[in-house]
Amino acid sequence: YLIIIICLLISYLYGSIPFALVIGKVFYNTDVRQYGSHNLGGTNAGRVLGKKAGMTVILLDATKCIITILLTGWIAKVSGISANIIYPCALFCMIGHCYPIFANFQGGKAVSSAIAYTLMTNIYGFIIAVAVFLITLKTTKYVSLSSILGATAVLIASPFIGYSTTGIITNICVVALIVYRHRANIIRIKEGTENKVKWF
Ligand code: G3P
Repeated sequence: YLIIIICLLISYLYGSIPFALVIGKVFYNTDVRQYGSHNLGGTNAGRVLGKKAGMTVILLDATKCIITILLTGWIAKVSGISANIIYPCALFCMIGHCYPIFANFQGGKAVSSAIAYTLMTNIYGFIIAVAVFLITLKTTKYVSLSSILGATAVLIASPFIGYSTTGIITNICVVALIVYRHRANIIRIKEGTENKVKWF
């Protein structure tokens, strides 16, 4: 049990690193929480600091679930515990991203980390997520709606593309987390005041 708790803790702590805040402060002397959607994520970093910063934050946030899954998968292997540990660990990593201990528990919306999670767990899920995201973004220009629909599409497809029961339960939690974190975006979409991307 101690190993499981340590794995979950490492995952939460790594997810908690607020890359959008770090990149903004170190390279642009800007706190992205004070501008745009006030969110600590790649989209808002791109909106406030420019495309290059946005892409950097997206990639760094994606490493959260990549490294978490590689590391905890390896720990599971050498310690003999179930490889299924990677699922709750990935979820804890995303929770860390949304509620970071290093940034007042006010983080991002777990989109980049969730896409990395699907890349690491199911290649079909990854393709579905990226395809639905890009099609929705092309037609609506809303990053938030594209993220919600991409995550939901993976969940709906989950039983048919080989996710285990643990994986499906995790996917339900991921969609719940992403939708909950986008609740302000959902209200803005309904009101017609949500930000649209210009460069896509
Ligand atoms: O990165 C999360 C995205 O789906 C929405 O971000 O800044 O437009 O609320 P934002």
